Amino acid sequence: MTCAIPPDEASLPRAVTLRVQEKTIDMDKFVIRGGNPLVGSIRVSGAKNSALPCMAAAILTEDEVILENIPQVRDIETEQKLLMSMGAQVELGYGRAQHRTTISCRHLSDPVARYEIVKTMRASSLVLGPLVARCGMARVAMPGGCAIGGRPIDLHLKGLEKMGATITQEHGYLEARAERLRGTHLFFDKITVTGTEDLLMAAVLADGETVMENCAREPEVTDLAAMLVSMGAQIEGAGTPTIRVQGVSKLHGTRHRINPDRIEAGTFLVAGAITRGDLIVTNCEPAHLGAIMEKLRESGARVDVQSEDSIRVRAEEKLSATDISTREYPGFPTDMQAQFMALSTQAQGVSRITENIFENRFMHVQELVRMGANIAVDGRTATVQGASQLSAAAVMCSDLRASASLVLAALVAEGESILDRVYHMDRGYERIEEKLRGVGAQIRRMGNVFGSRATSEE
Ligand code: EPZ
Repeated sequence: MTCAIPPDEASLPRAVTLRVQEKTIDMDKFVIRGGNPLVGSIRVSGAKNSALPCMAAAILTEDEVILENIPQVRDIETEQKLLMSMGAQVELGYGRAQHRTTISCRHLSDPVARYEIVKTMRASSLVLGPLVARCGMARVAMPGGCAIGGRPIDLHLKGLEKMGATITQEHGYLEARAERLRGTHLFFDKITVTGTEDLLMAAVLADGETVMENCAREPEVTDLAAMLVSMGAQIEGAGTPTIRVQGVSKLHGTRHRINPDRIEAGTFLVAGAITRGDLIVTNCEPAHLGAIMEKLRESGARVDVQSEDSIRVRAEEKLSATDISTREYPGFPTDMQAQFMALSTQAQGVSRITENIFENRFMHVQELVRMGANIAVDGRTATVQGASQLSAAAVMCSDLRASASLVLAALVAEGESILDRVYHMDRGYERIEEKLRGVGAQIRRMGNVFGSRATSEE
């Protein structure tokens, strides 16, 4: 496998000079007037959390990789920048010819994920496994914490070390080296989505068999595994707790279509319910939405799977309180917790929402309270007393899914809300204001599109 290692250590980033961001960030804002039921059909884009590992998987081959159904969101642009900073060629097109990226990692000259990029998207750690597998080394800036929690990657590192990598840490960078990773038996102390993905990508080129237990079962893992198999990898059990990999010496290129985004689809289903609308969510994968559809039905919404890729949601009657406890897939997803909390403010009765995955994923609560919601937080459980008549307010987005929660609340609040820092939303929702306007929402953006570059991330 050719992968030019920088000639000397000096060329690698040692002391990272932290530059104070001089420029003021132009915080995009949404202006939303509540009260309109959403009616019509709304199309789901490709899954950001599938596209990110699949783009990283292109590192594993010298051949060209084409990925289709890529979402037009900022995290994808960040991943493009990251791969190009290493010497990859990455074309990214959102024209009529599909949302498609073409990646060639034939000439990877610099297997380094620099802090300037990693700090805006912690999922950059997904290049760690593939770089060590392809190049024998990787230098990746430590991702650091974010709005929703500490977000450690200790399980990624523990797995790589067990596969024979030596890992050192200095100046905020991790360096992993291995002549060739060797197959082994891994057991994840905690279920980790990107940990499973990172080590799966490390294992496919390792010497021998790797058995991974207590793996994440998210559809994004299964999507990545399907892509790797289409490149010549030998993988069994993706989507189950135990994944078995026979390492191969080389992988070839592929063309792969990314799954629909189940969290975007879930967000739209909640939007149809909370506004008492009649919404058809298209280009989605109902099989990935079982827990979400079940909870919506429990709250009194009517949810009908109309075809293999569309779901209809209606909610004429009153909504009733339901309890939520976030779990790994196929349980109720943590990425839908904030959105469901907005819905619970409109439901009759007391809803208890428990966040079991991340330690700080209630940043949206205070903003919802400012809009008139009645929510009390005790540790990992938020108790929502509904139903409240929300009133429009100026609110602040703190992370990707909290932003979605505030949009949903603003769609039913009385008056005109201003949502600040919607650059968080641009990370994972493609043209969200256009899509919502298309089904009757009164929403517009202020400030320049994609103009803001955030330093914070989740
Ligand atoms: C992925 O993050 C998603 N991101 C997250 O989506 C999602 O919320 C999360 O999985 C859970 O479903 C991407 O796929 C890019 P984890 P990830 O590793 O992989 C702990 C969004 O909104 N942990 O499954 O980083 C960790 O602290 C984003 O799109 C360790 O302790 O999450 C957490 O408590 C937000 N050590 C738990 O495991 C590790 O080495 C699950 O985290 C790794 C994780």
